[in-house]
Formats: sequence, structure tokens, C-alpha cells
Amino acid sequence: MAADRTNDLNDLNDLNDRGDRGDRGEVPRTIDWAGDHLVAIDQTMLPDRLTLVELRTVDDVIDALARLVVRGAPAIGVTGGLAVALAAVIARRDGHDDNWVRAEAARVRAARPTAVNLSWGVDRVLDRFHADPSNVDGAGGVVAFARSMVDDDVATNRSLAARGADHVRSLLTDPDRVRVLTHCNAGGLACVEWGTALGIVRALHEGGHLHEVFADETRPLLQGARLTAWELARMGIDHRMVVDGAGASVISRGLVDVVIVGADRVAANGDVANKIGTYPLALAAARAGTPFIVAAPESTVDPSTQSGGDIDIEARDPEEVLVWHGRRLAPLASEALNLAFDITPFDLVTALVTESRVVRLAAGERVTG
Ligand code: MRU
Repeated sequence: MAADRTNDLNDLNDLNDRGDRGDRGEVPRTIDWAGDHLVAIDQTMLPDRLTLVELRTVDDVIDALARLVVRGAPAIGVTGGLAVALAAVIARRDGHDDNWVRAEAARVRAARPTAVNLSWGVDRVLDRFHADPSNVDGAGGVVAFARSMVDDDVATNRSLAARGADHVRSLLTDPDRVRVLTHCNAGGLACVEWGTALGIVRALHEGGHLHEVFADETRPLLQGARLTAWELARMGIDHRMVVDGAGASVISRGLVDVVIVGADRVAANGDVANKIGTYPLALAAARAGTPFIVAAPESTVDPSTQSGGDIDIEARDPEEVLVWHGRRLAPLASEALNLAFDITPFDLVTALVTESRVVRLAAGERVTG
């Protein structure tokens, strides 16, 4: 079982406010390496408590991924890479062979199916392990390589955010009072730091160009209400929560200038998998003529998946929909379909912004080829 490090955090700083005071105190990295194990913010506890957990076994990591202790495509990609490094460290300590590390990596890769970043992160570190299995802790070894992915994620998102903010402003008649709608959480908590869609929001805010953010609550696990709102509050950004069903009306009423979301996988044709509820926002934005921007690192682009129809959509436990805080919402006879992601067709995406390019998908530009 993963160990709770809440007290360490309390000692460090009074970080356990809900953002109500607009406290912009530094938040630890979402996921990091700590000597011989991983340390992660427990996102299931936010916004009530900012809690760190130690992940000391591969089972700890898999459990954290499955329960969304760590979630968000870039964050789970980095976590996947760190998990392979952890497996290599454990293998050397306990005398397991290379096949054991390979098998553990396969278990991590299978923890969640939709975000391609997970297999991307696992495979990158596994490749490094295969290249020199004897070099675990040394310079250029498996651990050092996995740790470099943590730093790279921060640099990637900062670059993406700056590019995205410039692009968003270039699309608008009033680029100095930008009003944004976002969905789920594509902020620092979904990455190591900074964020993708929310990274653009942050860059707009820091440049003095942001007016307001609408954040969808994001049923059933409320990543918008619990996590995005927490991040916005800590950054001192004016924001209003809306229920998921209100998103289309917010757009059609002209309350936002742009919709900015993250992605879990971008197929070769530009179709986008993201949190369930993203597709209706894209439909509404197209109808209203509102730009619909997808912000994702290149590690989220999957050239081996031809189109959205080929993406494995995670179906989660129906109880997440049927039960709220221990109370059954629907009659006992009711069942639920709990699809965690949906597919937005490429022609509804005004632009995909990555750390290295802007691809105007709706205008016919291609992601690959
Ligand atoms: O189920 P989650 O919380 O992992 O889903 C996260 C999302 O859908 C995010 O929007 C996506 O991963 C982009 S995060 C930068």
C-alpha cells in the first residue's frame, strides 16, 4: 500500500487550503523520483487535502494509475517511465531477471488504455533498460533517463503554453480579454507541472490577456470542479464552474471566445480522444463559430492509430456514476455505462497545439505525413 506523506507537507508549508484564499504557494511536482521510489500528489484527496504518497512497488504505481491518484495523459506517461525505472531498481535489489522487468512494464502499460502517453513513457524507459540492463543507477542509466523525462515534461509544457497563448490571441478580435471554456483537468496536475490547456490559460493570465475561465465540473469524477478549479484559485484566476450539460449553452450564448482542452491520444488523421464530454463542446463550438483548441504534447500524437475509431476507450466502474459519496443515486435496478473518454473528429478541431507546432486541422492541415 502506498505510504501517505501528508505530515511532511504540513510541516513544509500550509498547502492544505482549498485555494479559497487564492494562495499561490508552490505546489510540489505531480510526480517525481525520490531516491528509490516515486512520490506523487494524491489527486483523489484534492481539493480538501494536498497529500503526497510514496509509490514503492510496481503494484503501488498500478493502483495509483487505476484509482486516478495520478491522472492526466502527460503525468501518466512520466509515471509509466518512472515505474519501469522502479522495476529495474527492484529487480537489481531482489535478483529478478530482465524478463521480470519486461513483464512488470507490460503490467504498467495495461493500467489504463486510452492515453497513449502511458505506453510511450513505459517503452522509452524499457528501450533504455534493454540497451544496457546493467546500468540502473549510473550516469545515462535507466533511473537518470526516467528522471530526465520528468524535467522534459515541464519544458515541453512551458513551450506548448507560450505557443498556444500566441495562437489563441492571433484568432481573436479582442486578444487582451480572453474568455476560455475548458473541460476536465489539463493543468499542472495532469502533467509534472504547468499544464497543457491550462498551461495556455496560465500563459494568457501571466501576460495580462485573460479575462475569465469557465470550467466544466466533469462528471463523474469531477476533475474540473476538484482539480481545475483548485489550480485556477491558486493562480488567482477569475473562474466560474458550470455543470457539464451547460457547456454548449455557455458557448452559444457568446460567454467564451475559445474552448481549450487537452488530449489523451491524437490519431494519425487528427481525431482526438479526450475526457468524456469533449465532443459535445466541439460540436457546439463549431456551430457557434468559436475556436476549439486542443493542447497536447507530441507524445500524445499516435501515428500508429489511424483514426479515432481505432482508439480503445476506457470504460470505468459503473459505481462511479451510480454512487455519490457512498449514497446510491439511481434505483438498484439501474445500470450505468461509464465511458471515460470520447472522440472529437479532426474537422471540429480548429487547431492542435503542441510544443513544436500548430496544426490547423479544421483547415485541412495534417498531423502526420
Ligand atoms: O481520466 P483522466 O483524469 O486521466 O482524464 C484526463 C483527461 O482527459 C485530460 O483532459 C487529458 O489527459 C489531457 S491532460 C493534459
